Amino acid sequence: MDKHVIVGGKVLNGEVKISGAKNSALPILVACLLSEEPISIANIPHLQDVTTIMELLGRMGSHLTIKDHMIIEVDTSKVTDCVAPYELVRTMRASILVLGPLLARFNQAKVALPGGCAIGSRPVDLHVQGMCRLGAEIEMREGYIYASAPQGLRGAEIYFEKVTVTGTENLMMAAALARGTTILNNAALEPEVVDLANFLNSMGARIEGAGTSRIEIEGVEKLSGCHYSVIPDRIETATYLVAGAITGGRVTVKNTDPRLLPSVLEKLEATGASLDIKPRSITLDMRGNRPKAVDIDTRPFPGFPTDLQAQFMALNTIAEGTAVICEHIFENRFMHAEELRRMGADIRVQGNQAVCHGVNHLTGAPVRATDLRASASLVLAGLVAHGETIVDRIYHIDRGYECIEEKLSQLGADIHRIVQKKTSSK
Ligand code: EPZ
Repeated sequence: MDKHVIVGGKVLNGEVKISGAKNSALPILVACLLSEEPISIANIPHLQDVTTIMELLGRMGSHLTIKDHMIIEVDTSKVTDCVAPYELVRTMRASILVLGPLLARFNQAKVALPGGCAIGSRPVDLHVQGMCRLGAEIEMREGYIYASAPQGLRGAEIYFEKVTVTGTENLMMAAALARGTTILNNAALEPEVVDLANFLNSMGARIEGAGTSRIEIEGVEKLSGCHYSVIPDRIETATYLVAGAITGGRVTVKNTDPRLLPSVLEKLEATGASLDIKPRSITLDMRGNRPKAVDIDTRPFPGFPTDLQAQFMALNTIAEGTAVICEHIFENRFMHAEELRRMGADIRVQGNQAVCHGVNHLTGAPVRATDLRASASLVLAGLVAHGETIVDRIYHIDRGYECIEEKLSQLGADIHRIVQKKTSSK
């Protein structure tokens, strides 16, 4: 398994370009299943998860062409196989998103249950309940969801007991071709949900209210092809801003949109960072100061994103003061705390709460990534730790960060990748 080797102590300065949002690109690529006409999508990030979803669509019979600058052309007119197999779904849970489009266009789907992951049990009961409300017949057996809608899907009023991002996206896609109108209550407000709704509407869907907790979808007969560009990645944006904050430097992130991360920018200012916010870029300047500790409460959008909790924990390990971090979304999203403690962090975890006392410095150590955002927090800690940090299992980070070592090196970090030869299985 590849590793990152980081020698800490460099103050980061400079600018990086932000890639397209992973959590927009995934549902938008899957939504191409809803139309028989060719679609082209720009600003797709070059990530392992995107490769996985393209492989899944390809196995179904879709034809995908990668043009220059990661513009992807998708043609699903020849899709014949409505199956999402376990060996792909288990590597990327977002594969559950094919359930809605397959039911809507082909009236059937066989999708492997994603199962849990490092950060939690990750159930999909709300996805399944919603599909049943739209008239699908669903059976779970041998680790698969068998779904069918022989008479097609019909509109219904749906209330999500919990706010679910991909649940909202799955039902929005299913409802787009259902007969009649569907109302999604307690829908997720995330920018990636809005991006998907905008994409579907550019295909001819009739979706109103995306970005609010009540989304109304009037089903249509067919959806057409279109050209679309994915929004910037707000989590990547904030990760590089935290890299500037943790090292006391000055970092500009370009090709991004500050409106995507209002609560995060507020938190960064609370650390003592000064922010210069423009329509397509954000400059963070710590002026060499040590960041102040900031409390974190993860919440659905527009609250503080759970996908940035680990990165801000890394920041808090060397900040001035004590921070209390509460994780309200996932039940097991503090695994990075154990690894940060191995670097000298003073963190005490109690249930869904972590208390973090800032220390004067961390010390480099061999650490292990456990999930995508935890691995980002270990890289951030390595940037500021004294000595060398080796982050193992960085395949996690490759799922969600495009060219992270190149982008961090551009900012002056001392980071490189050790490629581990794949040993033959015999
Ligand atoms: C999306 O996951 C993101 N993934 C996650 O990003 C992100 O952390 C999460 O939303 C929360 O913002 C993608 O968009 C591909 P949820 P999702 O359904 O949709 C419970 C990353 O790092 N729930 O909003 O799977 C669930 O257990 C990833 O990029 C049910 O109980 O998350 C959780 O407690 C990690 N039943 C809460 O809802 C369901 O049927 C929110 O989960 C579905 C969810």
